[in-house]
Amino acid sequence: MERIVLLVGGAGYIGSELTGYFLNLGYKVRSLDLLLYENQVCVYPFLLNKNYEFIYGDMTDEGVTSNALIGVTDVVILAGLVGDPITKKYPQASQKINNDGILNLIRLVNGRGIKRVVFLSTCSNYGLITGDTLADEEFELKPLSLYAKSKVAIEKELLGLRGKVDYCPVILRFATAFGLSTRMRFDLTVSEFTRAMYLKKDLLVYDADTWRPYCHVRDFSRAINMVMLAPDAHVGFEVFNVGGDVNNYTKQMIINEIKTFIPDAPVRYQEKGPDPRNYRVSFSKIKGRIGFIPEYTVRDGVSELLSALSQHLFDKVDERRNFHGNYEIEYSSNM
Ligand SMILES: NC(=O)c1ccc[n+]([C@@H]2O[C@H](COP(=O)([O-])OP(=O)(O)OC[C@H]3O[C@@H](n4cnc5c(N)ncnc54)[C@H](O)[C@@H]3O)[C@@H](O)[C@H]2O)c1
Repeated sequence: MERIVLLVGGAGYIGSELTGYFLNLGYKVRSLDLLLYENQVCVYPFLLNKNYEFIYGDMTDEGVTSNALIGVTDVVILAGLVGDPITKKYPQASQKINNDGILNLIRLVNGRGIKRVVFLSTCSNYGLITGDTLADEEFELKPLSLYAKSKVAIEKELLGLRGKVDYCPVILRFATAFGLSTRMRFDLTVSEFTRAMYLKKDLLVYDADTWRPYCHVRDFSRAINMVMLAPDAHVGFEVFNVGGDVNNYTKQMIINEIKTFIPDAPVRYQEKGPDPRNYRVSFSKIKGRIGFIPEYTVRDGVSELLSALSQHLFDKVDERRNFHGNYEIEYSSNM
């Protein structure tokens, strides 16, 4: 069966990597994106590919989204205001996109014979876990930010659609991403720390012993594809943590990894920072159910980024701050 996949938010950090990955597999890719971060450059590499189509537009606009859905076999929902800081800064836009817009999208998808709808959620939903417990998919959710609260709300809605829709949703709770992509985000821990230490900047690390899981963008693409190919009975209406046990790291462990490359990079530490999240996650379910294990370690990600930095590929990050991080948007939530 020919797969024509709509990537909603396909020009972002994960979406631009996923676009190339899917095109290489022979899928047709349609990307709908509002280019909130001046990320036009993420579309350019694919423009001459006959299997690629780009639609500029706002997924909260019903006309735009209905049009984008015509003829597609699968939908991957990546779009949104991504991260705690940007949702805190723009709560109205966050409500409009991350809640109302996505709810409307999952309603519009119904009745079209679409096979797979993959919703990208986050391990941030686990919030703050005290002790050494590994959170599996059944673990209590404690979303601390507006960002995670929206994800939890959409998850709940999707899981309640069993028997009411003609498609098969899958919820993927992603670890925090690292790895090279056209829209390289440096507001994510591994890449932020690696760049800061490479430049010997004064890096202040809050709550160094807090845990998080991490995963390479390329591994995310592989996981999404495995979910696309898995039988409905294995993945439909299921939640999966996506990452690998090997990449559960404390911030201190990331620093130690980078220090093996740059031993003299200065790092300062402080307790009781602004972000209390602490969670270690179990990835047994996705491994057992569809055989997904990540190929890349945090160390691989540090190493590939250091090599790109040394080749001057990211010399303009400070001048292009908003392209390289989710800091500011121009978006009217009244539209
Ligand atoms: N990056 C991570 O570490 C991470 C971790 C867990 C989950 N996720 C999830 O993965 C997905 C992608 O994350 P990312 O890091 O690529 O984010 P990103 O911010 O780089 O990309 C989001 C894209 O969505 C687009 N977008 C936003 N609002 C839109 C709208 N109204 N209409 C059309 N397009 C719109 C933006 O222009 C951007 O290109 C998100 O759903 C995120 O919650 C990411």
